[in-house]
Amino acid sequence: MSFLRTAVRSTIPRTSKATISSLGAVRTKVSLPDLKWDFGDLEPFISGQINEVHYTKHHQTYVNGYNTSVEQHAEAKAAGDVKKTIELQQHIKFHGGGYLNHCLFWDNLAPNKQGGGELPVDTAFAKKVEEQYGSFDNLIALTNSKLAGIQGSGWAFIVKNTENGAVEVVQRYNQDTVTGNLKPLVAIDAWEHAYYLQYKNVKVDYFKAIWNVINWAEASKRFDA
Ligand SMILES: [Fe+2]
Repeated sequence: MSFLRTAVRSTIPRTSKATISSLGAVRTKVSLPDLKWDFGDLEPFISGQINEVHYTKHHQTYVNGYNTSVEQHAEAKAAGDVKKTIELQQHIKFHGGGYLNHCLFWDNLAPNKQGGGELPVDTAFAKKVEEQYGSFDNLIALTNSKLAGIQGSGWAFIVKNTENGAVEVVQRYNQDTVTGNLKPLVAIDAWEHAYYLQYKNVKVDYFKAIWNVINWAEASKRFDA
């Protein structure tokens, strides 16, 4: 009897802890998305080496960082550690943003053989761009100016403002992402890790080249969704 009581007492906390941990992992774990093309397929515009390092190292770091910080946040919250939960929110924002932004990025790129660089015709998105900007060239020029204006690390996003249906271009620093009424259509990574192995310090050449592999069909799909 005494043995049973001891066994029950010592088992319950372990089980509870394991259950919380296990549920947290199931609810929150993210992983690298499948790529729809091979690392070398975006050459010569983005080298295979860049894509491989970018995906397997950088994006993987955001995946791991997000999973770890969400798990730690759940533990801190369960322990009533408010200070720790606040600190961890910063990690969740950074790594979660990095995870999401890169998922958008891979899917809005495509090799030429899969339609990369081909401007959309007659889609709702194409019509809206022509109505607002006159041409895709103008939209691209505006986006390039936003990209060139990023001091340090960040992203430019072509977005749909869901409040009025307009196509807009916005800039974000670090791994901040677009939320709320801004639906991302095209996400362009302006971090050095996205271009430095190939373009060194001449990032404007990377910004010019990437339009050759933008998946505009995906942007049209996101616009309609
Ligand atoms: Fe990146």
